Amino acid sequence: NDRPFSAKLEVPEALTFDDVLLRPKESRVEPDDAATETHVSKNVSLNVPVLSAAMDTVTESEMAIAMARHGGLGVIHRNMDVDRMVTEIERVKRADELIIRDVVTADPDQTVSEVDAMMQREGVSGAPVVGDDDEVLGIISATDIRPYLEVGDSDAVSEAMTDEVITADADVSPREALELMYEHKIERVPIVDDGDRLIGLVTMQGILQRREFDQAARDENGRLRCGVAVGPFEEDRAKAADDAGADVIFIDCAHAHNLDVVDTARDIKADVDADVVVGNIGTREAAEALADFADGLKVGIGPGSICTTRIVSGSGMPQLSAVAEVADVAAEHDVPVIADGGIRYSGDAIKAIGAGADAVMLGSYFAGTDEAPGRIITRNGKKYKQYRGMGSVGAMKSGGGERYLKDVEDQDEEDYVPEGVEAATPYQGPVENELHQMVGGMQSGMGYVGASSIPEFKERAEFVRVSSAGQQENHPHDVLITDEAPNYSPGE
Ligand code: XMP
Repeated sequence: NDRPFSAKLEVPEALTFDDVLLRPKESRVEPDDAATETHVSKNVSLNVPVLSAAMDTVTESEMAIAMARHGGLGVIHRNMDVDRMVTEIERVKRADELIIRDVVTADPDQTVSEVDAMMQREGVSGAPVVGDDDEVLGIISATDIRPYLEVGDSDAVSEAMTDEVITADADVSPREALELMYEHKIERVPIVDDGDRLIGLVTMQGILQRREFDQAARDENGRLRCGVAVGPFEEDRAKAADDAGADVIFIDCAHAHNLDVVDTARDIKADVDADVVVGNIGTREAAEALADFADGLKVGIGPGSICTTRIVSGSGMPQLSAVAEVADVAAEHDVPVIADGGIRYSGDAIKAIGAGADAVMLGSYFAGTDEAPGRIITRNGKKYKQYRGMGSVGAMKSGGGERYLKDVEDQDEEDYVPEGVEAATPYQGPVENELHQMVGGMQSGMGYVGASSIPEFKERAEFVRVSSAGQQENHPHDVLITDEAPNYSPGE
């Protein structure tokens, strides 16, 4: 039969993680010395190139706080009303603030026992004493109060307080505040404005806690970074997220090359101060449509562990080719790229960066951790956590339809056409451990390629194609695994 094939099926091949390996290269880089600093969007850099997914079984404030403390970024999902979203963002922004703005204060006319009870109730061991107009008159601590309580409890706070108060103004640095504390043997410094009015408090405990997280993702005021997802047509939500202090707003759509989405994303970008990352996309043409205004591009059409988009719609792009295509265009515009979905191992993550991504977004990898909101399920004595696609029936019922450009509000559940499944993933413990394994593995990859930084790695990375025999060789084989490794499970 010498009839030619139809040109329709003379098609390019697209690749994903298991199709390739990074070619090892000459190296003087020890993995621990490989720097993982990167950009997640034009104006936001991170020490750790990892984001937690905007999914209702992955990221709310608890996950976002943990991610930012350990150098990454959490992206709060959008299956919640706007007021709740604002509260979630504020929780993250306040978590490790140097200056506590919500200060517990005492009144000079209160009795010492009243203040003692108040401090116990609020869980603080000292409080600034303020008069009318918030003027700072003194400071009182549990140590000041103790002798008064022993001889009676009706003395006024003004008797017991220390009235020579060391204060500082709002641009005090952590180092300056600590120096003041050491010099004057105190543990808290009230922050005052020009008129000596209280506007905040810096505590020794707060400073030491911040020191513990020396990789943390922080904004210019030292507050933790926070990402948040908004729908492509939700300009009001985007404005509210911006006002609440979100650092990066993610326009969250399963197909951001829809031209209505491109238009509204452009409008949202013009309306907010935060960086705006747009996604998801998977092709060069989509990147071209967005790269002139977006602060970041997010890639992934159907690679996710809980996704059925490719099966339901017959459309998608194998993830590594998608990342590489988008990254080619993004590089010309200096726009960072995030590879979102399908990452099971640290090796996948560093391959995504080798293909041109600047950071990776993970859903299933983190869904089993303590900080993820899903409930714990026990089956046959083993613990799991719930993990579901944002296009699954359950997530759509709680408001997730718009991501898939579907109006499900007036639909009955049986009329939904979902693009994701509801599942469970093994319980993992604290996210810090998972992140440690992920980043350590990525650094190993950098060591094998001889790159001491992410930009250098992107330049040096070369891939080889792997056959199906090679894929088998990649995994442990011909043995019975007796002890589980913390960073490898043979797939369930
Ligand atoms: P992983 O593989 O890390 O993927 O679990 C997380 C990413 O998957 C996307 N996502 C979905 N894609 N249907 C889809 O086709 C869904 O229901 C769905 N929910 C999430 C999303 O990009 C996420 O970050």
